[in-house]
Amino acid sequence: MTTRAPAVEARHLIKTYPGDVTALNGMDVTVEPGTVFGLLGPNGAGKSTTVKILTTLARPDSGTATVAGHDVLRHPDRVRRAIGVVAQNSGADPVATGRENLRLQGRLYGLKGGALDRRVDELLERFTLADAARRPVKGYSGGMRRRLDVALGLVHRPEVLFLDEPTTGLDPEARTAMWDEIGRLAGDEGLTILLTTHYLEEADRLAERIAIVDRGRVVVTGTPDSLKGELRGDAVHLELRAPLGEAGRSLLSGALTALPGVHEVLMDGRRISARADDGAAAMPALLAALERAGVGVAAATVARPSLDDVYLRYAGRRYAEAEAEAAALAADTLTLAGGAR
Ligand SMILES: Nc1ncnc2c1ncn2[C@@H]1O[C@H](COP(=O)(O)OP(=O)(O)OP(=O)(O)O)[C@@H](O)[C@H]1O
Ligand SMILES: [Mg+2]
Repeated sequence: MTTRAPAVEARHLIKTYPGDVTALNGMDVTVEPGTVFGLLGPNGAGKSTTVKILTTLARPDSGTATVAGHDVLRHPDRVRRAIGVVAQNSGADPVATGRENLRLQGRLYGLKGGALDRRVDELLERFTLADAARRPVKGYSGGMRRRLDVALGLVHRPEVLFLDEPTTGLDPEARTAMWDEIGRLAGDEGLTILLTTHYLEEADRLAERIAIVDRGRVVVTGTPDSLKGELRGDAVHLELRAPLGEAGRSLLSGALTALPGVHEVLMDGRRISARADDGAAAMPALLAALERAGVGVAAATVARPSLDDVYLRYAGRRYAEAEAEAAALAADTLTLAGGAR
């Protein structure tokens, strides 16, 4: 059996930004050739920083990385020739037309003459932009712009394609179309794709393997099914009428964990999450225990494990909370910056 070298291999990347911001705190990523790999994490987790280092746009403070077999620090030029990059924010020139953008990109990579014409036509067709090819990009819809971004990343037929949040800001219809397109790229063309996303559903749907990233490092990696499969039984979520105090929490934690078939009880404000061998069977006992403790329940649900539950298990907080935390932090930073002016 021959084993092929990984298409992307990053080891223990550390990156800090001025102001004591640790963007990466020991980031490890391995992507097998010809596969789609998803870096999944909330805002500020370090996804774009990882992509910037792997695409030679930023240097790590320490750690090593190779892409398509080339060291990103020693041979950045070789890495650049082997990769396509679709950044989180569009790189297309809004004043130029779709065709002009593609032609310019092609020329940057040394394409010319008939080969350039053919490649541009092929990409316009493939990304259903042929009709809009003569219009300036500033008049494109969000979905059209994002399709052009991906086409731009593919002009020189890269081995590895980096997609940083390919569908953020797209409406559901455009998002589904983009998912189909990414699926086709990986399937037909054997491209290696590393994508970042903060949509659990996107990672679940597109990536063969995912790494869940939290605060600058990978907390767990595996196939979406293996990660969900590792969680025993059902996810039980209870929403309380009032937040629990410290005393109530410690009292209840013991009482609930003692119930047969109930594990991993986590409490947070008004919410209790637990795993149960059989969620429906455990629910009456859970509700009775809460009633005995005088805790009012507003809502109760039982569900098969989702990636959200995987995140909760490994990062210790719910995905939506991590997103809200990052948003609050960003707002704070803005206020501080505004106040200092
Ligand atoms: N140029 C920079 N200067 C200072 N801090 C930065 C810079 N770029 C990123 N950071 C910080 O590093 C951390 C990681 O940012 P990064 O952009 O990698 O996260 P992300 O996972 O891509 O988030 P998002 O989902 O919002 O795109 C954040 O705390 C961010 O504020
Ligand atoms: Mg980002």
